[in-house]
Amino acid sequence: MKREDLFIVSKLWQTFHDYEQVEPITKKQLKDWGIDYFDLYLIHFPVALKYVSPETRYPPGWFSDDANSKIIHSKARLEDTWRAFEDIKSKGLTKSIGVSNYSGALLLDLFTYAKVKPATLQIEHHPYYVQPYLIKLAEEHDIKVTAYSSFGPQSFIECDMKIAADTPLLFDHPVVKKIAEKHSKTPAQVLLRWSTQRGLSVIPKSNSQNRLQQNLDVTGFDMSESEIAEMSDLDKNLKFNAPTNVRYTPLFHGEIGRLTVCSTVSLATSLLRRLTLHRIYDIDMAHWVYNLALVLRNATYMAMNNNKNNTKFLLEFIVMPKDSI
Ligand SMILES: NC(=O)c1ccc[n+]([C@@H]2O[C@H](COP(=O)([O-])OP(=O)(O)OC[C@H]3O[C@@H](n4cnc5c(N)ncnc54)[C@H](OP(=O)(O)O)[C@@H]3O)[C@@H](O)[C@H]2O)c1
Repeated sequence: MKREDLFIVSKLWQTFHDYEQVEPITKKQLKDWGIDYFDLYLIHFPVALKYVSPETRYPPGWFSDDANSKIIHSKARLEDTWRAFEDIKSKGLTKSIGVSNYSGALLLDLFTYAKVKPATLQIEHHPYYVQPYLIKLAEEHDIKVTAYSSFGPQSFIECDMKIAADTPLLFDHPVVKKIAEKHSKTPAQVLLRWSTQRGLSVIPKSNSQNRLQQNLDVTGFDMSESEIAEMSDLDKNLKFNAPTNVRYTPLFHGEIGRLTVCSTVSLATSLLRRLTLHRIYDIDMAHWVYNLALVLRNATYMAMNNNKNNTKFLLEFIVMPKDSI
């Protein structure tokens, strides 16, 4: 097989958003692949994290430390990252450049400074998360949209995400099953065709050769407009690939419930801290009250997260030294 027969896509991880880090890490990725150009290179998430050198840890993940406890953001601006993307494209390290997980607002902002427009926008997209306006905006600017996680909750169950486990599988949804049966296709094939008929590209992955073949065989039939609309009506604006879903697996469903609980507990903790610092002059008492507030806050987060690893997070604060308050 020749290189030109393959279309190879890679993405820039968030810890490499600073202008001067983009070219070296692209070259490292190319070297790891044993190739000299990508066909498409994407900004993975529009969130910049503090640089972690590949000598320190590679791949670096979300955390700045080996103990996986600190997420530190960087001051790299998306405009500078995009400028670096335009430069690696002009140097031939990639044929095309694009973005992923951008909102409409971020796209509009990008249009104000981009000399080269993104060729593609890669987004989570399935009948529970349809995003018609974002797709329309991309189309109006001639940006091709690629759908990931076309099967909805399926791929997030593997990440042990409670919200995904608690959401009915699209494969079992009566609307999807009905349309699949009518076309003598599997629910997976119907989910992929729903995307491609809406003008998106799909990139399903599978460890099974049979399912890989099945996922390729999705263009030989057409769903009717009403079937496409029926599937689009399943929209719940439910995004699984959100950091809050991973860090705080919810006791309460829905973004608003989660955010309300997190912010109420944070607010209560910060009020208690201020009270202890300004009204209680006995340092032992202040230390005790403040630590109690932190323990309560972290216990709540732990309960929401349902994650045993966070025991460490809780214990760290119980032994918080007096001089740190
Ligand atoms: N830009 C981003 O932020 C982002 C985020 C996530 C993913 N992605 C990309 O999107 C692509 C797809 O990854 P994804 O995580 O979204 O996974 P996905 O393709 O939506 O789903 C994979 C899951 O579906 C199952 N599956 C695949 N084909 C099936 C079929 N025909 N019938 C039943 N089950 C089937 C697989 O199981 P088996 O393996 O057992 O078949 C696996 O559990 C990857 O290239 C990934 O890099 C991008």
